[in-house]
Amino acid sequence: MGKILVLDHPLIQHKLTFIRNVETGTKEFRELVDEVSTLMAFEITRDLPLREVQINTPVREAKSFVISGKKLGVVPILRAGLGMVEGILKLIPAAKVGHVGFYRDPETLKPVEYYVKLPSDVEEREFIILDPMLATGGSASAAIKALKSRGAKQIKLMCLVAAPEGVSKITVEHPEVDIYLAALDESLNEKGYIVPGLGDAGDRLFGTK
Ligand code: URA
Repeated sequence: MGKILVLDHPLIQHKLTFIRNVETGTKEFRELVDEVSTLMAFEITRDLPLREVQINTPVREAKSFVISGKKLGVVPILRAGLGMVEGILKLIPAAKVGHVGFYRDPETLKPVEYYVKLPSDVEEREFIILDPMLATGGSASAAIKALKSRGAKQIKLMCLVAAPEGVSKITVEHPEVDIYLAALDESLNEKGYIVPGLGDAGDRLFGTK
């Protein structure tokens, strides 16, 4: 069973308050999403394997540790997931970046894949899928399926804010996927917005409306 981790570090919670606030403008919103993504990446990389190396400090020989070359991939779901990419690459600059995009079929209301581009060595990488808002979970679940169907074996999902409905969908459909959140909110409203949420993450990131 995958983990559901709400990252309650005070810096994440503090910055999330400003992200949520309707008074926060596009520039500040984008910067804050970037900063929170970096802070979340710190936690999401906690289980990276280390190997011991021998070095010389100015004082004497020492055994120390380096990350043991695990291959990582970051996959934003278009378009709002793009706002989280740079913040993560600050901590794991060697990660490759894939992209997935979905539109909603007007009749079935189900997500339909329109764009998928992943690194070629999918099977060897651990992937972090990025979606700021885990609302119904439809596109996050579709993104996980898109990666699995192309051979991905290890997938984590990172979101800023989630609704219980989205978390349930992922845990039922992809029980092995760990979910990292900055907040688990109360509900979804009739328009599909997370409550209290932060509004439309894509519009607030890119200044569209
Ligand atoms: N997508 C958003 O950007 N915001 C929500 O509240 C739900 C889905």
